[in-house]
Amino acid sequence: MSSNPQKSYIEVIDFHKSFGEKRVHAGVSFYVRKGECLGLIGGSGTGKSVLLRSLVGLEKPDKGQIIIDGEDIVPMNERQLVEVRKKVAYAFQGGALFDSMTVYENLAYPLREHTKMTESEIAAQIRAQLEEFGLDATAEKLYPGSLSGGMQKRVGLARAMMMHPEVVLYDEPTAGLDPYNTKRIQESILKMKAKGVTSILVTHDMPTVYAVCDKVALLIEGRIGEQYTIDKLKTEPSGVMTQFINGESV
Ligand SMILES: Nc1ncnc2c1ncn2[C@@H]1O[C@H](COP(=O)(O)OP(=O)(O)O)[C@@H](O)[C@H]1O
Ligand SMILES: [Mg+2]
Repeated sequence: MSSNPQKSYIEVIDFHKSFGEKRVHAGVSFYVRKGECLGLIGGSGTGKSVLLRSLVGLEKPDKGQIIIDGEDIVPMNERQLVEVRKKVAYAFQGGALFDSMTVYENLAYPLREHTKMTESEIAAQIRAQLEEFGLDATAEKLYPGSLSGGMQKRVGLARAMMMHPEVVLYDEPTAGLDPYNTKRIQESILKMKAKGVTSILVTHDMPTVYAVCDKVALLIEGRIGEQYTIDKLKTEPSGVMTQFINGESV
């Protein structure tokens, strides 16, 4: 795959990562342009989550570069990575809300950590954010444990958006959701995209890839095996990716 450093906002170059003897990534390269959404698909255990975690510096590759907005984040220290994480939000698999805090406290947390906003400004932003994600203000007082899975995911995404990130990394945001909640998540992703947010969507949910992504890459045998634009994949399905999507062994 050719690189395109001028226009790319995220560029991963020759990413290698092993855990002990187990080689997971053996030279992953791809790029995402500003405002684009890349769908990243692949079998379970192929290293999709590790790749996303690496893009916010929660894992370090053994070898390779991760260029975000012109800067390689691989050599960065923790202090520099804190700055990167203000720009790049990672919406965790499962939502990752703090169970002992209300929805309000969960959403206020990043703002209290990273900004000097007043409590009334924080309250106003939380109200607006909940509305954006189709959640009622009454949800503020609830604890994550009392929310449905779909609502938890939406609150998790709302929290990831609190810092107005330029990049959002979605790790299986619709896994286990019913069609109604899946649709709400798709709408949220499209809203973020309309604001110019660049994103990577890791998922097994192909209807969501078709609904929100511009292109899709298949992670297989430690590399990006194939990549297509969504239009191309829809109109001329072929190759290993189509076999994978159709559930054939690849
Ligand atoms: N901290 C870790 N220690 C050891 N092995 C790990 C660790 N994190 C991930 N792995 C292994 O790396 C592989 C890829 O994991 P992951 O990125 O979670 O896969 P995916 O998200 O594609 O299902 C798996 O085989 C997993 O067991
Ligand atoms: Mg995963």
